[in-house]
Amino acid sequence: MVDYRNILVVGGGGREHCLGWKLSQSPKVNKVFFAPGNGGTGMNVPTSPDDLEKLSDFARDNSCFTIVGPEKPLTLGIVDLFARKGLPIIGPNKKAARLESSKVFAKKFMKKYNIPTASFSVFSNADEAKKFVTSLSEPPVIKVDGLAQGKGVIVCHDLPEAIRTIDKILKYKEFGSQGTSIVIEKRLYGNEVSFIALCDGHSIVPLDSSQDHKNIWDGDIGPNTGGMGAYSPAPIIDEQMNSNIMKTIMEPTLNALKKSGLSFKGFLYAGLMIERSTNVPYVLEFNVRLGDPECQSILTRMDSDLVEYLEAIAETRLASMSQIKWKKDPAVCVVMTSKGYPGKYEEGKVVRGLNSSMGEGVYVFHSGTARDPQDRIITAGGRVLSVTALGTDMETAIDRAYSTVRNIHWGDNEEYYRNDIGYKAVNSKNIQSEFQ
Ligand code: AMP
Ligand code: GLY
Repeated sequence: MVDYRNILVVGGGGREHCLGWKLSQSPKVNKVFFAPGNGGTGMNVPTSPDDLEKLSDFARDNSCFTIVGPEKPLTLGIVDLFARKGLPIIGPNKKAARLESSKVFAKKFMKKYNIPTASFSVFSNADEAKKFVTSLSEPPVIKVDGLAQGKGVIVCHDLPEAIRTIDKILKYKEFGSQGTSIVIEKRLYGNEVSFIALCDGHSIVPLDSSQDHKNIWDGDIGPNTGGMGAYSPAPIIDEQMNSNIMKTIMEPTLNALKKSGLSFKGFLYAGLMIERSTNVPYVLEFNVRLGDPECQSILTRMDSDLVEYLEAIAETRLASMSQIKWKKDPAVCVVMTSKGYPGKYEEGKVVRGLNSSMGEGVYVFHSGTARDPQDRIITAGGRVLSVTALGTDMETAIDRAYSTVRNIHWGDNEEYYRNDIGYKAVNSKNIQSEFQ
């Protein structure tokens, strides 16, 4: 048994602020530390999430149970190091984290174990890749093998774009060593959903569904970002689709992890495309952690004690846990960013409007914020805040989130946010009721 009284949350985004908020509600928890945290988190440890040795020293000295937010420490092997030192931690080990850190590995894994995914080929030679795309009947999706901060997937619109993309990655090495290989895959059309499950290596328990908005502009257009907002639940995932995804994707993935000897304890995130013409779910990508901002829209709806489930993961007894309890109310999370993000932006602007009462069921999680010498909250990143609100229905949750967002400003009104977060859920509900 581990001592769960102190928790170390690794990371400094909205996801980690939200995780810490949720974990601190547990009667089992005494202190929650964040490394490095942000201007909104309480007890910050000034350590980079990549400095694994320092993190393990802190966890040992403060008897912490460690929860990892971002993928980088997982892909660097934080779980392997902590295991060697006998320190309790939740997350996949370095080998299993390759499901996220290598697209080539993930696609080959899916193919080997018959997990539904778009057909694909792998190339490291530019000429061969170009010859292949020239032979295709429609433009493909091209993916950089390694981690590329959300910029490594290019949905090509025509052949010249595919050729240029291949050259950028394989010839001009724009992604450095992360781009020594590429996946060229068939483009799928449909609705995207984030499906995240708890996994202890032997059983798997789904969290409620969610959907994020990756593009910078309203209408899901423009460059990809880390995520501009999310909502939960995703109406497209009804009970039948949920069990279909569990049967055809999540359980086969768990069995495949077991068969290939990969140790996975933590949050298994399947980025899915529910194909429009067939209603069949396909895996676009695996992540080995909670999504940001999906986490904020999911955990604010969770009534059960998350610590109990993390304990069960650590002790491999997830199968014996009762069902997770969820609030019926949907949640909407609107991300506020610095103007210019995901390109260049300025930092150090004082954030105004945080002190007014946010109201029950409205939460402002911080990401790129810090405190200045006068203890004021200032901007310190691209994604600055994620404002999350619950409501009796999606429209109410949207209204509540935006009425808070509209009261928060920095600089000379230099904040940016999308105005249409959650509307997809409202529209899809309207479309469904038209046919009922
Ligand atoms: P990934 O990192 O693989 O999830 O890709 C990032 C984004 O690219 C996804 O959220 C999709 O919007 C898009 N994408 C990736 N693969 C495909 C595909 N095979 N067909 C259509 N869109 C895709
Ligand atoms: N919101 C997408 C991600 O966390 O990868």
